Amino acid sequence: MNYKTSYSIEDFREIAKKRLPKGLFEFIDRGNDDEVAMVENIKALQSIKLVSRVLNNATLRNQSIELFGKKQQMPIAIGPTGSAGLTWFEGEIELAKAAAAKGIPFTLATSSMTPMERVVKKAGGSLWFQLYMWPQRELSHQLVRRAERAGFDALIFTVDTPVAPGREYNLRNGFTIPFKFTSRNIVDVALHPHWLFNVIGKYLIDSGLPRYANFPDELQSRITALPMGRSMATNESLHWEDVQQLRDLWPRKLIIKGIQHPEDAKLALKYGADAIIVSNHGGRVLDSAPATIDILPEIVHAVKGKMNILIDGGFRRGSDVIKALALGADAILLGRPTLYGTASGGQAGAEAVIELYRREIDRVLGLIGCHDVADLGLDHIFSKN
Ligand SMILES: Cc1cc2nc3c(=O)[nH]c(=O)nc-3n(C[C@H](O)[C@H](O)[C@H](O)COP(=O)(O)O)c2cc1C
Repeated sequence: MNYKTSYSIEDFREIAKKRLPKGLFEFIDRGNDDEVAMVENIKALQSIKLVSRVLNNATLRNQSIELFGKKQQMPIAIGPTGSAGLTWFEGEIELAKAAAAKGIPFTLATSSMTPMERVVKKAGGSLWFQLYMWPQRELSHQLVRRAERAGFDALIFTVDTPVAPGREYNLRNGFTIPFKFTSRNIVDVALHPHWLFNVIGKYLIDSGLPRYANFPDELQSRITALPMGRSMATNESLHWEDVQQLRDLWPRKLIIKGIQHPEDAKLALKYGADAIIVSNHGGRVLDSAPATIDILPEIVHAVKGKMNILIDGGFRRGSDVIKALALGADAILLGRPTLYGTASGGQAGAEAVIELYRREIDRVLGLIGCHDVADLGLDHIFSKN
């Protein structure tokens, strides 16, 4: 099987599983603790049923939307995924090019392998930058200024990880960043020579072992090969003051990622955010978090019309995207699915994943008799009462 003969996200996932070393695949694919939140995100979406209206001449169907004053071809965006650059040589550029080709935004994570300026130069399109706030706040603020100079359209401030998640499998697998050969990963890597030569080999020739290329020098020099996920920038003292400071610093669209409570959505609005992302980090941090689609309605009730509401977590089908839009979301972010695509075939693989969503969204619109995603609403959500 290859990405050209993949007909579902699960197909792409299977290819990624074969191509990537286990330590890397599990870092991408898995959740935290018992992985309840990760599974619940998907199950909760599957449990929602859509209402079809028939004989409604659904010949013309539109799924393009306008977000932050810009038209995009589909109601989805690629969310931030640290270490995407390990799924393919310069994987972040591959992902960003795929997004640009398909007319949707791409988010570059703080913990990416490719310098942000290089992504802007090589990919173009609508680019967002995701920020983790280090305890040394000035270093994060410098990164924000750098992202502004580089030309990113929006800043996503991730707030749901004040302390590091457990993710025991990362410790067992012995995969680290900066990448290092260890006694625990050497067999795993040796069993994936294609990945070793085409990803690690190319980095070695180009710029050395993959590392967090956007971290300031001061942090780079201090990082000594931590298990994957452990070098993420946790900061226990995160506070709304941080949003205030970012609002003063960042002149473009400001998005808060990781909102799970309507009162926090209201606070994000109060502190000047343009949008929120209802997110539990794909079930990768608090394992007892509710499914994001289950908390969407009350957040919509709290702030709809006053700011944009985005959502992520478990969206594996076009029908899932339709459900969130019908419940009031303005757009949906993808995490793992486009990483599976990149691992399967670089830019072309990621494009194939986005195309799969485009076809499925279009098909479901036709099946429920809806002409435009803008017309989706609660009437399209089946209720037993
Ligand atoms: C491998 C991986 C790395 C991630 N890294 C980040 C990150 O650096 N910053 C962030 O805000 N979210 C990160 N996330 C979370 C995603 O942005 C997103 O919230 C989540 O993956 C959505 O769920 P889904 O994978 O089910 O689509 C990461 C997710 C994955 C799978």
